[in-house]
Amino acid sequence: MSKIALYRDLAAQLASLIEGEPDRVANAANMAALIYHGLPDLNWAGFYFTQGDELVLGPFQGQPACVRIAWAKGVCGTAAARGATVLVPDVHEFPGHIACDPISQSELVVPLVEYGRVTGVLDLDSPKRARFDATDQQGCEHLVSVFLRR
Ligand code: SME
Repeated sequence: MSKIALYRDLAAQLASLIEGEPDRVANAANMAALIYHGLPDLNWAGFYFTQGDELVLGPFQGQPACVRIAWAKGVCGTAAARGATVLVPDVHEFPGHIACDPISQSELVVPLVEYGRVTGVLDLDSPKRARFDATDQQGCEHLVSVFLRR
């Protein structure tokens, strides 16, 4: 299956998983599981949600992770502060990267933007360098838009 087809398939599965369910934590938990098991070469997939000037850990799959990330810190805080996706091919070259799991080599963070506010981020980590490309970025941004439609 091509990567584009895989993301199309995941978006359809996500839409049916969250259909009719308004609970954000439940939907985020299912989305994290869907992504973690559906995409190859990930060691972490999950959410951080905005609380004041911090991001606080939400539902995820993978190793236990840092609970609080200051706004604009790390890859997650940078994506939140910019309100734009951050794709990091090599985390060792990203100043301020927060190493929750030392096996992570590359990372993709998509902000959740609602009515102009960043309410959280979706964070994906891979043990492979340069695991994520523009297709992953577009695919994950689309998954986030499906998630936020609820
Ligand atoms: N690496 C992230 C921290 C979160 S973990 O990867 C789950 C960062 O630099 O923001």
